[in-house]
Amino acid sequence: MSGPLVVLVGPMGVGKSTVGQLLAAHLGVPYRDTDDDIVAAQGRTIADIFVEEGEAAFRAIEKAAVETALAGHEGVLALGGGSILDAGTRALLAGRRVVYLSMDVEEAVKRTGLNTARPLLAVNPRKQWRELMESRRALYESVATTVVATDNRTPEEVARVALDSL
Ligand code: S3P
Repeated sequence: MSGPLVVLVGPMGVGKSTVGQLLAAHLGVPYRDTDDDIVAAQGRTIADIFVEEGEAAFRAIEKAAVETALAGHEGVLALGGGSILDAGTRALLAGRRVVYLSMDVEEAVKRTGLNTARPLLAVNPRKQWRELMESRRALYESVATTVVATDNRTPEEVARVALDSL
């Protein structure tokens, strides 16, 4: 199957873009991020898409962006943290090498708790955010071919572990 060498999934704040760029540099391949693709294609921020059209519309836009990136990118591809919520997006990942960057939920809540640029955090108080994170874990696991725990590891160490797993 052509397409990305590796797809990264995991919660927001786990370091997908930092680790993804390190991984791409180690592999000597380009890095791509579907959040960036969406912003570029739409000419507005993800927060604006959420506010103007709602989450369901965003997920449809995101699924199309994932499909395009899977077809046209041969390097490391990072997906938005909520992309796995959509069954169609999950189905697109079948047969791909997918690394799930996991992190302790409490740590994730702490790291992202004050970041209002991320629309889901702006509308979800901390308790709901924790529940959201916990409910997503099984979905990440369902698409992953490898799980790499990021707790107590630097991005470079995470990239190394991910690299060794390929
Ligand atoms: C989201 C994660 C974000 C972005 C959007 C929704 C989520 O991506 O796609 O704000 O639902 O978890 P990152 O994980 O790259 O921050």
